[in-house]
Amino acid sequence: MKKLLVFLTLVASAYLLSCTTDANAKKPLNPNGDSELALLMRAMFDDGMRMKAQVQRGEKPDVAVAFEKIHTATPTEAGKNATEAYTAFALSYVQAVKALKEAQPGEAETYYTGMVNACLNCHNAVCPGPVVRIKKMLL
Ligand code: HEC
Repeated sequence: MKKLLVFLTLVASAYLLSCTTDANAKKPLNPNGDSELALLMRAMFDDGMRMKAQVQRGEKPDVAVAFEKIHTATPTEAGKNATEAYTAFALSYVQAVKALKEAQPGEAETYYTGMVNACLNCHNAVCPGPVVRIKKMLL
C-alpha cells in the first residue's frame, strides 16, 4: 500500500512538472520563474478571450499576440517544443491564426473556433493541464 502511494505521488508530480497546470495563473508556477513559452501562452489566452468578445459583438477579431513565437519561445521543460507532435500542432495553430486574420466578414466565428480547436488539439496531446481553461475561449 505504501509503495503504491509513493508510486502515485511520483506519477502525479511527474505529470505536474511535465506541463504546467493551471491552479493559479497569476503566481509564477515554476520556482525558476515562468518560461517564455508559458508567458506567451498566457498572452495567447488573454488575447483569445478579448477576440471572443469581439466575435460575440459581431466585430472582426484582430490578433494582437506574437503567435508565431510558439515555434521558438523557450519552454519550462527543455525539449518540450522539440518533438514532432509539438511542431505539427504548432504549425496547425499558426495556420489557424492566419486563416482567422484573413477571414471575410461573416466567417470570423468559424475561423475563431478553428483557432481555439488548434489550441485544444495540442493541449490534449502534449499538455492537458490548461484544457479546462482554454475551453472558456469557445463561443
Ligand atoms: C503546439 C502546442 C501548443 C499549442 C498550439 C498551444 N499550446 Fe498552450 N501550452 C503548450 C505547452 C507545451 C505549454 C507549457 C509551456 C511551459 O510551461 O513552458 C502550454 C501552456 C499553456 C498555458 C499555461 C501557461 C502557464 O500559465 O504556465 C495556457 C493557459 C495555454 N497554454 C493556453 C493556450 C492557448 C489559449 C492556446 C491557443 C491560443 C494554446 N495554449 C496553444 C502547448 C501548446
